[in-house]
Amino acid sequence: MILITKDEIQTRTKQLAQQINFDYKRREVVIVGILKGSFMFMGDLLKHLTFDVVVDFIQAESYEGEDSTGNVVLKHELTTNIKGKHVLIIEDILDTGQTLSNISVYLSVYDPLSVKIVVLLDKPSRRIAQIKADYTGFKIENKFVYGYGLDYKQKYRNLPDIHTLEYLV
Ligand code: XMP
Ligand code: MG
Repeated sequence: MILITKDEIQTRTKQLAQQINFDYKRREVVIVGILKGSFMFMGDLLKHLTFDVVVDFIQAESYEGEDSTGNVVLKHELTTNIKGKHVLIIEDILDTGQTLSNISVYLSVYDPLSVKIVVLLDKPSRRIAQIKADYTGFKIENKFVYGYGLDYKQKYRNLPDIHTLEYLV
């Protein structure tokens, strides 16, 4: 079943970009995408950003199938020097919060000027780690979702809408 349509995603993404453009004004920002799930949202969001960006990626894995293991492993590290820079993390979904809280600690070691977080989706009821996003696309119930970058067993990332798993056959 479709939970969030591609049109709703695009409308909300433009609104988030307007807010982010307003907040950062003309500052230069290092955008750090969390692979793999954020790649589609990141691409769409960045098209609407009007300040200078440097793009980098981190790959973190905590999920096996449908559930978080709580064990966050970095599979690809930052390649940009973020010392003294504004950093904006782009993530697909904030769930237990363990991924983003680990990544925030990892980035803070490199002494950035600021670190903010953008998430497309937030499942607040699942939170374990004390972490909040600065910009959130949609708050959703505790249902596994896939599509628009998010996978179910590494598939369906290419779907343009966000679906809930219950009707997956
Ligand atoms: P935590 O629990 O660390 O999890 O906040 C964040 C990461 O878990 C993945 N995740 C999902 N992936 N459908 C997915 O395809 C989901 O419903 C879902 N919930 C969490 C996601 O990779 C995120 O980076
Ligand atoms: Mg992810």
